[in-house]
Amino acid sequence: MDKYKAVAVLDSGVGGLTVAKEIIRQLPFEHIVYFGDTAHMPYGPRPAGQVRSFVYRIMDFLLTQQIKIIIVACNAATAAGLEYYRERVTLPLLGVIEPGVRAALGQTRNRKVGVIGTSGTIESGAYQRVFQRLAPDVALFSRACPLFVLVVENELVHNPEVYRVAEEYLQPLKKAGVDTLILGCTHYPLLAEVIGAVMGPEVKLISSAEETAQEARRILEEKELLQPREISPVHRFYVSGPARNFSQMAVKLLEKEVRAFQVVLDEETPLLV
Ligand code: DGL
Repeated sequence: MDKYKAVAVLDSGVGGLTVAKEIIRQLPFEHIVYFGDTAHMPYGPRPAGQVRSFVYRIMDFLLTQQIKIIIVACNAATAAGLEYYRERVTLPLLGVIEPGVRAALGQTRNRKVGVIGTSGTIESGAYQRVFQRLAPDVALFSRACPLFVLVVENELVHNPEVYRVAEEYLQPLKKAGVDTLILGCTHYPLLAEVIGAVMGPEVKLISSAEETAQEARRILEEKELLQPREISPVHRFYVSGPARNFSQMAVKLLEKEVRAFQVVLDEETPLLV
């Protein structure tokens, strides 16, 4: 029965764990299969076509894993073409950009919203398009912060230099007077302390994780796919690069025992190593 299958979550690395954490909080009985494409991280600077080809391979692997929904918990991968991924699966599939925009619309008072993300996400104009559709009156100010993903993946969050880098990136958004800032990369909530300190307490920081998990819940409910039993779910973690670093970071972030497995995805066959 499909209800008993897992929720699949994918990202280039640990960023999607911010979404997985919310899924665990909001849907505590759901099994989860997580894939972090650490061998190809970062996605942000890569061309959209290349990011899509990585996502296709991950999806092929995930589809061998008894799953019922796919969450593309990565803005860069979402921006590279959610509609292409949807064409390839019959399962429900959602990204993180629209949920982030909806969360921001619920918060902004002055209708000046900032969005920060990887170069791929910002240059794609994906956020502009969603704002244009949902709230054309909002003034959107965007800024790429390409170093942030590497800061998170290399556990440099507490390095004093990071504050300086953040100031440099965020200055134009402060100047523009945004009252709401979308963290348009799932890695960025892990830097929320620094970003919040630079932006000041009056600016609301939006992580799409909460709204994305809510939307996943809505979809599962509507399709009658929610796990019906109060079980202790199984959470499985796969990465395409070495598993140890990922496992260590996941343990800290999720505050639970995590053992990740490395999977090498070639064109044809997923291979567990
Ligand atoms: N976490 C991803 C995102 O939300 C991408 C990070 C990257 O690999 O550049 O955009």
